[in-house]
Amino acid sequence: MMKRTAWGTMMLLIGLAGASVTVAGCEAGEGPIVAPPDPPAEYADKHMPAGWWADEKIIEEGRQIFIGATNIDVNCASCHGKDGKPVKAGARDFRNTERMKLYSDAVWFWRISEGVKDTKMKAWKSKLPEEDRWKVMAYERTFGLKGLEFDVVKKEWVPVGSAKPPAAAPAGKAPASAPPKPKKAAAGKT
Ligand code: HEC
Repeated sequence: MMKRTAWGTMMLLIGLAGASVTVAGCEAGEGPIVAPPDPPAEYADKHMPAGWWADEKIIEEGRQIFIGATNIDVNCASCHGKDGKPVKAGARDFRNTERMKLYSDAVWFWRISEGVKDTKMKAWKSKLPEEDRWKVMAYERTFGLKGLEFDVVKKEWVPVGSAKPPAAAPAGKAPASAPPKPKKAAAGKT
């Protein structure tokens, strides 16, 4: 049986201190909550196809993509976690409502398409056609923004079914690719 020496106690304390630093480091891993940058112009007018936020079939297809069941080469869960709890350091935690509500559908879609430079988050556009990127987003948003949809007029997340259709689109019937109003200023340029 080992006697506890002063040295041993000190090492124990250092060990505990180290452990708590690690835990704090994990929690702070995502850094402060700040709004993401605006998407580039070619993504600024991309929006979830009409009706998909509420479509359980679409969301389930998104889940299958997310967990790598649709295509083994596309496995978002391998970093973001099957239940949305990140399993790779630095991967975005979609359960964080306060952060994720700062993401428009356009920004979210842009990041899935083009990735985030100098991080493990790569561009998925070569592996996922547009519809699949929307589907996986429809699923990802259920972790922190369940039951909500992005209102492109108000520019905020609102309960599914309560978003106002864009002014250019007559309620309900507008095609997803309705041309933008000509007077609308181009987004993204500074
Ligand atoms: C190899 C690990 C890895 C995989 C696989 C992965 N991601 Fe990520 N993802 C990350 C990391 C790391 C970040 C954080 C990037 C940063 O620091 O902004 C991230 C961030 C994101 C973001 C937020 C971007 C931002 O601006 O904050 C979205 C959205 C996202 N991932 C979606 C996906 C989707 C959808 C898939 C699957 C098609 C996927 N990710 C697969 C590692 C991964």
